Amino acid sequence: MDGRDLVRAVRDLGTERGRRAWRSAWRHRRADAVGLVQRGAERARVPGLLTGTEPRPGGGVLRFARSELLVRVTAGGAVFWGWDGALPEPSYALAGSGPEPDPRAVLEPDTGGGWRVVSERVTVAVSRHGAVEVRSPGGTVLRREFPPRWWEPVEAGRGGARWAQRSEVAADARFFGLGGRSAGPRLRDGTYRLWNTDPNGAFGPGDDPLYVTMPVQLVVADAGTHLVFHDNPWDGRVVLREGEEGAGSGADRPGASELRMEGGPLRCWVLVGTPARVLQGWSGLTGGAAVPPEWALGYQHARWGFGSGAEVRRVVAGYARRGLALSAVHLDIDHYDGHRVFTVDRERFADLPGLAAELRGGGVRLVSIVDPAVKADHAVHASGLAVGAGGAFVRDARGAEVRGEVWPGECAYPDFTDPAVREWWGGLYEERLARGFAGFWHDMNEPVSFAPFGDRTLPRSARHAMDGAGGDHRSGHNVYALGMARAAWEGLVRLRPDERPFLFSRSGWAGMQRYGGSWSGDVESSWEGLRASLALVLGLGLCGVPYSGPDVGGFGGSPSPELYVRWLQLGSYLPLFRTHSAIWAGRREPWEFGAEAEEQARAVLAERERLRPYFLSLAHLARRTGAPYVRPLWWGAPEDRALRDCEDAFLLGDALLVAPVLECGADRRAVRLPRGRWYDTATGAAHEGPGQILLDAPRGRIPVLARAGSVLPVRSPEGDGGVALEVWAPARGRTGGGVVVRDAGPGFEAAEPERYTVRWAGDEVLVEDEAGGRVPGVVVRGAGG
Ligand code: NOJ
Repeated sequence: MDGRDLVRAVRDLGTERGRRAWRSAWRHRRADAVGLVQRGAERARVPGLLTGTEPRPGGGVLRFARSELLVRVTAGGAVFWGWDGALPEPSYALAGSGPEPDPRAVLEPDTGGGWRVVSERVTVAVSRHGAVEVRSPGGTVLRREFPPRWWEPVEAGRGGARWAQRSEVAADARFFGLGGRSAGPRLRDGTYRLWNTDPNGAFGPGDDPLYVTMPVQLVVADAGTHLVFHDNPWDGRVVLREGEEGAGSGADRPGASELRMEGGPLRCWVLVGTPARVLQGWSGLTGGAAVPPEWALGYQHARWGFGSGAEVRRVVAGYARRGLALSAVHLDIDHYDGHRVFTVDRERFADLPGLAAELRGGGVRLVSIVDPAVKADHAVHASGLAVGAGGAFVRDARGAEVRGEVWPGECAYPDFTDPAVREWWGGLYEERLARGFAGFWHDMNEPVSFAPFGDRTLPRSARHAMDGAGGDHRSGHNVYALGMARAAWEGLVRLRPDERPFLFSRSGWAGMQRYGGSWSGDVESSWEGLRASLALVLGLGLCGVPYSGPDVGGFGGSPSPELYVRWLQLGSYLPLFRTHSAIWAGRREPWEFGAEAEEQARAVLAERERLRPYFLSLAHLARRTGAPYVRPLWWGAPEDRALRDCEDAFLLGDALLVAPVLECGADRRAVRLPRGRWYDTATGAAHEGPGQILLDAPRGRIPVLARAGSVLPVRSPEGDGGVALEVWAPARGRTGGGVVVRDAGPGFEAAEPERYTVRWAGDEVLVEDEAGGRVPGVVVRGAGG
């Protein structure tokens, strides 16, 4: 416990909730003392020497003196390996049963007594000591995993093995991913924990871990890009150390990554290729991202503490009166009856369906927070007790319900790793739909139990069904929120089969994109928080979760007008564009920051509205291709080292480069450009990349550049709500093009991509569809340059 935590813990003793949290933390400690088997003495093990091999589809099994390794290359080029008999399934991350083995990949002897599996896209070489190398088809080593090491209890029945795996990557490699990390997007030397955690208060760039952790690393180097995923939800740590190049002396020091896990299988997937290919492969493995409904790509206003339906009306009317676009309002736990999930405070929110219908008439949807913890005195608790043989709630090793402390008081926790519980929970959203809610915001699902000391979650000994496999919270913790998201998603699809659900979740794990997105959680209201919120969105996108965004303005403070406007500007180019704040924090309505800020906000919201069709197209493309809407600048040019190190700008789809202002007082900023021509969308000026330019960034706008030759769908300038194509002229002598996907409806109707090409015909820029037909009514920009 650090000093800050100690102060908080002592202060907690002064409140009723604080005292209950103390009691709950003691209970959890006692539960673990009796429920967790002591491991006792441990013995270390390494694979030992290779003793034999056996071909299998896509690769084979390699037997070592003290372990065995299954290597499989799949038809799509993904590589799987598992030690000690670990197979791809069962897995919470994978969608379906994993890809088929590549029938052409064969196991054959390698030099030095090792073996290798050669396939079209990748070679996997295994040494006779059990080191595994992933090589490009040209033979370059992208990743070298040293033989793993296990630590097992000497005495049987005292638990499984802990393990560690050390790896090397190229000296020039950069690490990204590991879920949502405030210190990113480039993950510098340090230790990153794999344990979904509520940081307990606002977080800044140094706080780690946060709500969404994932053993997913994206590694970008001159030699190629790869993604590595250790499919294991247990607690663990990743130690990263970037390499160093010997400046021509040949004495490079490779980059290093070490993964230490407290248990669970040692199995791993590796995908190699361009960033786009790698993310496509990842989305193939773990499932396409849910496409949010169209309205969820507009601007949204949340607040903890609206306090009443009247206040919601006042805020919504404020937007309407000023002509500021608003797509949704989010109600936090203060609209519940005594903070109980799936209830309403009928005094302060007297007619919620009426309010929802009224707002809907003005184009504004209502979104509800949903917390997983169920108060012990609540009817939902009683209904959960009737689920399955033993009730819906997590139990301890002795069979008693585990109770924790959350907003409503003493609570029980549904076990979302049980299919019957997921089905029951999914059905509960019927109440929300009947009240007029159109979307859902999952919170506190790490899951949190307030505690003045120890882990602010369930005891590790708490039991989980683990979909039939049985386990405890050590394996169930990190997939808890994923199970909750699945329960909600499946329930909503059952209840409203013709509507895509809108769901986003504070916590989650690999594969969570199948059910929705995420948000940054309680990011601090500071310039550092602004920067961290971009890092989170970029990092999550590279782990396959394309839809996320921050609390604009930060969660807990009162941003200055300048910080608020800069945050709004950044947020407006991120998929989830939502302002939110704590009950004790300052206001977030644009007009609360003065007339100048209001005008600046007006421009921001109007531009987001204009770009909504583009966001929707990116949402569909993310599902189809795995490419996140928000991409690092190196996305199309991973070999450009300057881009690899650029963390303060991003690409929005193929067409736009966004350079937010992340520093107080700045009114200009340096912008690094990938190769090609880029137009400043504010001035129309053309700039040639690669290189760095200095651009004006007055308080009213941030630099946004459009790639020459790009095509993007925007709201039609006619004001008829239709969609127009905006096209940026290619450089003379060059061509361009783009893929656009329009919504086929609010449900799951197939939306077909439209492909356009752009070329110069004399002095005119011509846009053609796939059939070669000229597309009328396009808005061409940059053609004068
Ligand atoms: C924590 C969430 O991160 C925050 O967004 C929310 O306002 C509070 N819980 C209260 O529900």
